[in-house]
Amino acid sequence: MTSVRDRLSTHQPTFPGVAPRPTAAAPVAAATTAPPKPAADVIVSLQQVSKIYPNGSHALADVNLQVRRGDFLFVTGPSGSGKSTLLKLLYGAERVTKGSVIVQNQNLAELRGNRLSLLRRRIGVVFQDYKLIPRRTVSENVAFVLWAQGVARKEIQRRLIPTLKMVGLQDKAHCFPDELSGGEQQRVSIARAIVSTPPILLADEPTGNLDAENSWQVIKILKKLNSIGITVIVTTHDEHLVRMSNHPVVQLRNGRLFPVKH
Ligand SMILES: Nc1ncnc2c1ncn2[C@@H]1O[C@H](COP(=O)(O)OP(=O)(O)OP(=O)(O)O)[C@@H](O)[C@H]1O
Ligand SMILES: [Mg+2]
Repeated sequence: MTSVRDRLSTHQPTFPGVAPRPTAAAPVAAATTAPPKPAADVIVSLQQVSKIYPNGSHALADVNLQVRRGDFLFVTGPSGSGKSTLLKLLYGAERVTKGSVIVQNQNLAELRGNRLSLLRRRIGVVFQDYKLIPRRTVSENVAFVLWAQGVARKEIQRRLIPTLKMVGLQDKAHCFPDELSGGEQQRVSIARAIVSTPPILLADEPTGNLDAENSWQVIKILKKLNSIGITVIVTTHDEHLVRMSNHPVVQLRNGRLFPVKH
């Protein structure tokens, strides 16, 4: 299998049977043609992606990355290097300034409204600060996602317990977030992210507020989810965790992406 390192490049990405993209010097008309389609098992593809925020802040520059179905990828890098921006582009919370982002064969630049919402349902997202609803129980926090999608009550009940079991919280189903430890709250947020069985899970500094033991527990759950086929992309500052986990790593530095040697 090709390594993530092979799939990363700072030069023009190429795909079988597809002509290379025009260079920066090519005419504007050529640069606006549709981006080449990624290979079939590529679930996330960034091609020459740059992101400049409206205030002029350059967050990402010429990022190329391909993630295959079933990969587990760590994205590391110092504060302000563009990690959260990268994930935001993948779930459509931000749009690229230049280049293209293709997720599950859909070019995010072309998605609006309903079609964007439908794609987002197929992407689980976990944040450093959990983002749980305070006055709802663990079960309600997790069920809310399905309820909002119009899933029937019976089906919600059917999915809830196995999902809570997956993150080891079946005994906390009726607790409120403020009755849980930080590690437990993060596990609720993972349950919420996966209850609709998305093929991709994005986690932005999921261990940022946790001690070493809880951090490792969270990574073990992400590994377990990856072992059942979910593609996982995790940003982290924690070099130790990355070394222990033994998964491919890329690093952002000043908005540029580099492969990391093990
Ligand atoms: N909404 C925004 N508007 C303007 N600039 C932003 C915005 N969000 C991020 N930035 C800038 O983009 C750059 C990358 O930010 P980003 O949040 O992606 O970094 P990060 O690697 O996730 O950092 P951290 O490790 O601190 O979370 C930074 O210079 C930041 O100030
Ligand atoms: Mg961040």
